[in-house]
Amino acid sequence: MPGNDKSDTYQLGNQHVSRLGYGAMQLAGPGVFGPPKEPAAALTVLREAVASGVNHIDTADFYGPHVTNRIIREALHPYPKGLVIVTKLGARRGADGSWNPAFSREELTQAVHDNLRNLGLDVLEVVNLRAMFDIHQPGEGSLEAPLAVLADLQRKGLVRHVGLSNVTPKQIADGRRICEIVCVQNYYNLAHRADDALIDDLAAQGIAYVPFFPLGGFTPLQSSTLSDVAKRLEATPMQVALAWLLERAPNILLIPGTSSVAHLRENLAAPKLALTRQILGDLNGIG
Ligand SMILES: NC(=O)c1ccc[n+]([C@@H]2O[C@H](COP(=O)([O-])OP(=O)(O)OC[C@H]3O[C@@H](n4cnc5c(N)ncnc54)[C@H](OP(=O)(O)O)[C@@H]3O)[C@@H](O)[C@H]2O)c1
Repeated sequence: MPGNDKSDTYQLGNQHVSRLGYGAMQLAGPGVFGPPKEPAAALTVLREAVASGVNHIDTADFYGPHVTNRIIREALHPYPKGLVIVTKLGARRGADGSWNPAFSREELTQAVHDNLRNLGLDVLEVVNLRAMFDIHQPGEGSLEAPLAVLADLQRKGLVRHVGLSNVTPKQIADGRRICEIVCVQNYYNLAHRADDALIDDLAAQGIAYVPFFPLGGFTPLQSSTLSDVAKRLEATPMQVALAWLLERAPNILLIPGTSSVAHLRENLAAPKLALTRQILGDLNGIG
């Protein structure tokens, strides 16, 4: 039976992970390009996350490119048992930092091998195919050919589980006819709720939903209601935003990104917040 009734973990592939994970994108340089400004701090953030119980890390070899994966390896290899590193395929960086689609068989195969090498793994636990019909939001178009390539790589034993990112409900339904889809990673947070119906649908089917930009991304969320609630709870707005996502649906797995140990600690304390019915009502009004 997919999914899990324990509120603090959820099934991702064939492992149960803590619902509060970590997104590594912020560990690359400005614009997710090049090395971090403070490499030692990046290692510290990752080590502290795992020491604090995070066992789900989201990354991509096109962050940097190659930068975040190599930092993850340097910080955490040999990996502790039960740590699930989720990566994604579908983009290639230009010399100017641009994000370009990379969906040919050669590019996808190369990307799997790059991820394996840079992360120091023999098999990738979960790989998301990141659609690029529109870089900023899901757009219709067929993912059949690249997903079939990924399913081949799965059959060869290089990839254990497959997910989809930046996708529409139709692409998910079509994708599930090609291979099992264990997670969906789309843009969603307190203020951006286009996927409300999709999340409920995936929850009913035991498929994890992993919102990217859970805190608003490059411009973190700002709302007077959020600030008011945070004040009432003696918490920070970012903690409230994460606590709201944990309440929103049991299949939501969080991967907030930060390059700061102080922010990491703050984010990891978010599950302690108790959101009353009244507060949830106020927060729901933001979306
Ligand atoms: N599939 C996709 O297309 C896609 C797209 C984007 C991201 N992602 C994944 O999703 C993960 C999360 O997204 P994200 O990192 O871009 O955005 P995010 O988690 O919504 O927010 C990160 C931003 O919030 C700041 N922040 C984090 N914690 C904070 C706190 N407690 N107080 C104040 N500011 C805080 C960070 O700055 P500091 O570094 O200063 O803390 C950073 O600027 C990424 O790391 C990546 O793995 C996937």
